[in-house]
Amino acid sequence: MLHQVPEIEPLEAILPDEPLLMMGAGPVPIPARVAAANGIVINHLGDTMARIIEQMKAMSRYVFQTESRHILGVAGPGSAAMEMAVINLVDPGTRVLTVNNGFFSSRLGEMARRAGGDVVEMDAGVASAADETAVAEAIRAHRPRVLTIVQGETSSTVFNHALPAICRAAAEADCLVVCDAVCTLSTMPLEMDDWGVDVVITGGQKGLSSIPGVSLIAFSDRAWQVIEGRERSLTHWCLDARLAHQFWYNKSYHYTAPVSGILALHEALRLVCQETLPRRFDRHLRCSRALQAGIEGLGLKLYIDGPSRLNSVVGIHLPEGLAQTDLMQHISQHHGVEISGAFGANIVRIGQMGEQCRSHHLFRTLHALGTSVRELGLKVDVPTGVAALELALSSHKPSFA
Ligand SMILES: Cc1ncc(COP(=O)(O)O)c(C=O)c1O
Repeated sequence: MLHQVPEIEPLEAILPDEPLLMMGAGPVPIPARVAAANGIVINHLGDTMARIIEQMKAMSRYVFQTESRHILGVAGPGSAAMEMAVINLVDPGTRVLTVNNGFFSSRLGEMARRAGGDVVEMDAGVASAADETAVAEAIRAHRPRVLTIVQGETSSTVFNHALPAICRAAAEADCLVVCDAVCTLSTMPLEMDDWGVDVVITGGQKGLSSIPGVSLIAFSDRAWQVIEGRERSLTHWCLDARLAHQFWYNKSYHYTAPVSGILALHEALRLVCQETLPRRFDRHLRCSRALQAGIEGLGLKLYIDGPSRLNSVVGIHLPEGLAQTDLMQHISQHHGVEISGAFGANIVRIGQMGEQCRSHHLFRTLHALGTSVRELGLKVDVPTGVAALELALSSHKPSFA
């Protein structure tokens, strides 16, 4: 007997009349060209795809700042790219040092444990960046083969600014560095070759302003040698970097690539190249700093202080008596703006990645935030916040020549 046809509402009945402004920790708004590319299906093999793949690799080399010939796309979320990095480099018994500042850095450690790695977790503190001296000491003490770290820990809004120094310490100990740049790539400098990062991972839906579910990963020659020298075959098919290389470099079949998502990512990368990295970094810096000034102008407090503060995702302490869930619900229902909460601390997070960094989005978001807090019965100074935002935007001095 056939099962009954379920009763289904059309999407229009589920989605809001007007799309919410996505100002949380990702996914972020996507440009029209990215959305249009995402609506196209082409053959996943053949000359057209080959030309697109060649361009994607060239653009990725620019965005990752690398000469690497081992850049791969991944059909999956940022976590799939994290998993590809880990399972291709961590064998049972491989010593791994995980620098942990929160949820995503700890996920890298958990993935390494599941791969059978001998994982040492270094608690770098959830409210401050990893200290380069402490990490160098941990490398000397534990002699890891692989070190995992996030450049920006989205969950705690911490920025690991000592990444270049940590890479130097790892290189001296012949240890590979796997860096999660899911929320930071193209929002701030990351120089894969010059800093000596061995694996850089990113997702589509954050700094690059593409769709979720198609990611990128770049391996250094040093990391690729380890992968090529691996004797055992991986239990995973889709995430086997050697098999993926066949598609990305030899035009041959691995699995049916997510063509529409790849086209969307192509357009997202093209827009980054068109803007250029120095201008894009400057846009992010200007907008994020101005948003932070505006939040402080409202009378709210930022979660992370000083150089450990991540600009790509900004954490905001909530005043006593205001729960993050109430604020998130109010701001989306009454102002059409989506922001994120956080696990653990009573903070909300506002993203400053890709298309989120536009001044018209900032004014709408800051006004919605301030008004929502006020409507929920707490005191904030909305005009002063908006004035601080405007002053910071207009007085910004570009950081590129
Ligand atoms: C720093 C960081 N790493 C990894 C991830 C995981 O990405 P995804 O959710 O696409 O698997 C995220 C997503 O929020 C992230 O912010």
